[in-house]
Amino acid sequence: MSGFPAVRMRRLRENATLRDMLTEVTLEPRHLILPIFVCPGEGVSEPIPSMPGVCRWSVGRTPEVIEPAIAVGVKAFLLFGLPTYKDADGTSAFASDQPVQRALRLLRGKYPEIILIADTCMCEYTSHGHCGHLTKDGHVDNDVTLELLSKAALSQAEEGAHFVAPSDMMDGRVGAIRSALDGAGMCSVGIISYAAKLASAFYGPFRDAAGSAPSFGDRKSYQLPPANPREIIRDALMDVDEGADMLIVKPAMPCLDIASRLRAGTDLPLAGYVVSGEYMMLRSAISSGALDRERALLEYHAAVRRSGCDLVITYYATELARILRGAVG
Ligand code: PBG
Repeated sequence: MSGFPAVRMRRLRENATLRDMLTEVTLEPRHLILPIFVCPGEGVSEPIPSMPGVCRWSVGRTPEVIEPAIAVGVKAFLLFGLPTYKDADGTSAFASDQPVQRALRLLRGKYPEIILIADTCMCEYTSHGHCGHLTKDGHVDNDVTLELLSKAALSQAEEGAHFVAPSDMMDGRVGAIRSALDGAGMCSVGIISYAAKLASAFYGPFRDAAGSAPSFGDRKSYQLPPANPREIIRDALMDVDEGADMLIVKPAMPCLDIASRLRAGTDLPLAGYVVSGEYMMLRSAISSGALDRERALLEYHAAVRRSGCDLVITYYATELARILRGAVG
């Protein structure tokens, strides 16, 4: 008696109350992390042409984007910085007068209840736009880059980051950053590593937003090949061995299978990053009228949770939290 007609799955779906009671995966404001672009200057709120609806904020104005998010239950923020200067080794990534460092000081003092995550990478800070130190022949030197990343992470931790989030994809960065933090007595600062970061077309709008496009070549020698799931999982699990506290998969939708495999293969908290290209894909389809805004946003982000992610990093965090709270979005 295992199949139809004794079994009728629709019995569980006929009634709205029952459907509500049996909901397996929820999406709540507490699951959402909002990325923020912090730029130099004073009084700046500059719309980002490649990402309509998202702005770059100077440090003093970041409360204007943080407070509405906190008001609807968003609890964590991921900071990206546009520096005042760039050089070959991205030294502005670890200078205390730069936007991310200044924002961390301000926000850590002003909003003690929120979680501050600093994206740790070199591409926004290097004149060539690659994620690390370049050798003469234009190759990104892994081990020299580890030293630069460690300096950046230390600087972010010193200014108040609860977590650093290395997004460079060098080998050994989690271990290097962990020992740098521990060596400086900052063992309570955590590492959320971009463990499965694919070499993806979906970062295009971000690279305009953060001015971080590589000036030549691409990132395929360090970011992960989308067609290699076994290699992706091996690389991600190395971050676990090196001491990562949480893992990020990105882009979210093209990585749902990876998230689900990592969910089965590790008990670390996982976050899926709905990246700039996914934001624009949704936004374009919504603004053309092809998709219903609320239903599409809810379904898309809930799918990331369903794949096994505890958290979802998304430019839609505030808008989604508003929808989830039942307020007019
Ligand atoms: C920095 C970094 C990137 C993103 C997050 N951290 C860009 C890249 O790797 O080119 C992409 C985020 C997004 O597209 O929203 N390395």
